[in-house]
Amino acid sequence: MAAGKGTRMKSRLPKVLHRLAGRPLLQHVIDSVSLLQVRRVVVITGNGAQQVEEAVKAWAAGGPDMVFVRQEPQLGTGHAVQQAAPALPDDGTTLILNGDVPLIGAMTLQRLVEQSAGRRLALLTIDMADPTGYGRVLRDGDTVRAIVEHKDASEEQRRIREVYTGFMAVPNAQLKRWLAGLTNTNAQGEYYLTDIVGLAVQDGAEVAAVKAPDQVEVDGVNSPVQLAQLERAFQLRQAQGLMEAGVRLADPARFDLRGRLECGQDVEIDVNCVFEGDVSLGEGARIGAHCVIANAGIGAGAVIHPFTHIDGERAGVRVGNGALVGPFARLRPGAELGPEVHIGNFVEVKNSILARGAKANHLAYLGDATVGERVNYGAGSITANYDGANKHRTVIEDDVHIGSNCVLVAPVTVGRGGTVGGGSTITKSTPPGVLSVARGKQATISSWQRPKKAPK
Ligand code: UD1
Ligand code: CA
Repeated sequence: MAAGKGTRMKSRLPKVLHRLAGRPLLQHVIDSVSLLQVRRVVVITGNGAQQVEEAVKAWAAGGPDMVFVRQEPQLGTGHAVQQAAPALPDDGTTLILNGDVPLIGAMTLQRLVEQSAGRRLALLTIDMADPTGYGRVLRDGDTVRAIVEHKDASEEQRRIREVYTGFMAVPNAQLKRWLAGLTNTNAQGEYYLTDIVGLAVQDGAEVAAVKAPDQVEVDGVNSPVQLAQLERAFQLRQAQGLMEAGVRLADPARFDLRGRLECGQDVEIDVNCVFEGDVSLGEGARIGAHCVIANAGIGAGAVIHPFTHIDGERAGVRVGNGALVGPFARLRPGAELGPEVHIGNFVEVKNSILARGAKANHLAYLGDATVGERVNYGAGSITANYDGANKHRTVIEDDVHIGSNCVLVAPVTVGRGGTVGGGSTITKSTPPGVLSVARGKQATISSWQRPKKAPK
């Protein structure tokens, strides 16, 4: 179910597209479902339907068979599932999920389906310290009698702490029958899906309640506050997992992983780092404070100093073993640093390969360049790789020394062992082993007098 407006988010973006750990809420839910052996996933959209459907199609390609059903207008969760009924086969079981409860685990869903066993209505419930806003589970002794929504509950019912989590498994034939019996005579004038529990009981059907193993799995997101709280809970859980695997986090409360992070032994991560996409950190790698690292492989023993931004996007970034990067460095897609390369402060590298031991320590740009071993690339030097229409390559061969404040106008090759004098604008390739200088000659004008202010 992903048709609701999410009024309490107070946002233009449909609620289920808000992100938790970098992924839309709905994507978390669909990813969990996709781990089960499902015949088909039906996504019910309404609010921002087109936007939601496009997003789902973009990330769910290659997954299970996906069907979209529109719910217009949105008259409640029961009404939502009524719209989906024609898309459900008459046999089999339907697992109904709230699109705004992102961290539900596949194992928990599997247990729910097993409890349903093709004949029971199985509900996932949990005891909450503060159940405000949730549907309460009414019981007669051990047997579930009904669910009453918070807004419809009496004072006494509101004291019940067992709540419906937004997940149920129902055999399809019964589901269709019970859906047809829903009414909207309640506090919100909506068709509540949760009313099918009472209908099932009237029908003499068995209702099973499965307790969720973990509050975090069933926390719903209805407001920015809840979204932030759940994000933190999720991040803490990820941090815990990494630390249990031996990763040393300076502070698990100041760690964010929005994707996958693979770590070798003895990795250290200082405070306030953000990891996105797919990142791997080799054995003994150290990440300084305040780094943002996305889609990159960092080699063993490499040190990323504070405030470094690395984003490989699709092409990726590779940092070789023992390389030093930052502080304040920027590595962009296609940056491939060999072993023991040094990239210092305010150096930007894009689509460039640097061989072992090459150094660019200060204030420089390397774009579309191939840089040889042990090259020293001076402060303030840049590759002029773009002529306004096309990008061209700069080749700097082994053991070259590029002075400060040089412009290498691509396409150009600086020959092995050559030196380029500071301030040169190099437009022609240079032979190996020579000094190349391309700048105005220094002049001395001894007759020159500095202007003086006229006396008052
Ligand atoms: C719902 C349950 C409540 C449960 C809680 C758990 C109902 C009536 N109540 O309440 O018992 O404790 O979830 O999180 O089901 N949606 C639609 N179409 C609609 C309305 C909602 O698709 O017309 C979707 C929403 O996009 C959302 C989900 O259904 O993904 C839940 O809707 P929401 O309004 O958040 O229900 P709750 O009030 O949280
Ligand atoms: Ca909700």
